[in-house]
Amino acid sequence: MGGLWGERILPHVIDAACNSKEVRPLRERACAGLTGTVLELGFGSGLNCGLYPDAVTSVLAIEPADTAWKMAAKRRASTSAPISRAGLDGQRLDLPDDSVDSVLITFTLCTIPDVDTALQEVARVLRPGGSVHIAEHGRSPDPAVARWQNRLNPAQQRVFGGCHLNRDPILLLASAGFGDVDIETGYVSQLGPMRPWMYGYSGSARLSAV
Ligand SMILES: C[S@@+](CC[C@H](N)C(=O)[O-])C[C@H]1O[C@@H](n2cnc3c(N)ncnc32)[C@H](O)[C@@H]1O
Repeated sequence: MGGLWGERILPHVIDAACNSKEVRPLRERACAGLTGTVLELGFGSGLNCGLYPDAVTSVLAIEPADTAWKMAAKRRASTSAPISRAGLDGQRLDLPDDSVDSVLITFTLCTIPDVDTALQEVARVLRPGGSVHIAEHGRSPDPAVARWQNRLNPAQQRVFGGCHLNRDPILLLASAGFGDVDIETGYVSQLGPMRPWMYGYSGSARLSAV
């Protein structure tokens, strides 16, 4: 999404919306167990920087929005593991096969246009036995809420840079070949009218070691 809203304003809106206390436990759960060289897809304004475990030795950040990358400068500087911007598009990673130990994706599987291709790229660059760690909002198992998610989805995508309300991260990971799925789900807040935005997923899945 281009223009003033998409490039200059939306990254600030996302920074505020994604930095809530309700969302923090999902981030903590996603970051637990990250190790070695970490690929972070949709790095945004760096809201996970303070949560990387000591076992993380470097972070390869993929982020298309220059505004978000600049906003992350202080958070990047206060992180002990070096963080470099390794690309602009999770759908086409300029990284060798089997070159990263873990992958972190928070509130970005909802947004990447061709998310299946992005997860195939993740599977390609992740070493066998490596794990992908996620925190996301997505499809609710409650049919009434899921119907609202479908209805609201077109407007959500127009306003929030392509963000979908109705993707199911567990299904997406399974169809990309990830197993050992350990993902907690549930509403992060019980605010009735906000429930289409509030169904959370957090945890990890593994690429089988062949
Ligand atoms: C809702 S924000 C989440 C940012 C951050 N991960 C967080 O948890 O706060 C979605 C991010 O995905 C990024 N994004 C959009 N399209 C992308 C793509 N094709 N590849 C990688 N990141 C993308 C956006 O620029 C934005 O920073």
